[in-house]
Amino acid sequence: MKPVTVSTLREMKRRGEKITCLTAYDYSFANLLDRAGVDMIMVGDSLGMVMQGHDTTLPVSVADMVYHSRCVARGVERALIVTDMPFMSYQESPQHAFASAGRLMQKGGAQVVKLEGGEPMAASVRFLVERGIPVCAHLGLTPQSVHQLGGYRVQGRDVTAAERIRHDAKVMQDAGASLLVLEAVPSALAKTISMDLEIPTIGIGAGPDCDGQVLVLHDMLGLYPRPSPKFSKNFMQDAASPEAAVKAYITAVKSGAFPGPEHGFHAT
Ligand code: KIV
Repeated sequence: MKPVTVSTLREMKRRGEKITCLTAYDYSFANLLDRAGVDMIMVGDSLGMVMQGHDTTLPVSVADMVYHSRCVARGVERALIVTDMPFMSYQESPQHAFASAGRLMQKGGAQVVKLEGGEPMAASVRFLVERGIPVCAHLGLTPQSVHQLGGYRVQGRDVTAAERIRHDAKVMQDAGASLLVLEAVPSALAKTISMDLEIPTIGIGAGPDCDGQVLVLHDMLGLYPRPSPKFSKNFMQDAASPEAAVKAYITAVKSGAFPGPEHGFHAT
């Protein structure tokens, strides 16, 4: 089984094959996702909410991410492992970001690190990439900024905000990011950005025209006890097992059946 790399994902974008991604935080689920054929596994700091029960991702530490990433890495043979850099682990300086990313890769088995934010993070992205650390950028609804955004709200709805996200996406690519997550933005904006960029875009609440899709595992299996976002779908409802639900998700993403219009957002 050939492991997925950032080059594999770029080639998938080139030939128009949708990239599938789900989050995982432990060995058993990571192994299930890998066996089912998911292309990317994201060790998201959403673990602060779905594993630890916090209201936000802000309390998650680098030590938490190293622990969960290492558990995931033990279960994976094929999928690319993307691990989140948690709040306060990279914003201070490129050197600080490098030290945190190094721990996630060396101790946590991360193959790509993900960080939130646009132009102000460009110097850190470049610093990591120039030192051999692949980066996934994350724009739109960036949950680590929930208090600044005033809640978990759709981003980029008006022309100015949309232009800002489009600009930041280009800046992230130019800084060397290998991937871009677009969260909770209008579908038309995500489509334009996906066409603008050479690097793959991975959408969550960003419509069907991103190069790939990601969901939080606990949302798509209906395990999270609190309300799930409108852009998610419970694939367990029509499945006989978690494995069947994950396979249904992969089929739906690859065929373009998920996300549907009911999972997306419009501009104002
Ligand atoms: O924290 C997370 O799980 C994420 C993805 C869902 C994009 O950032």
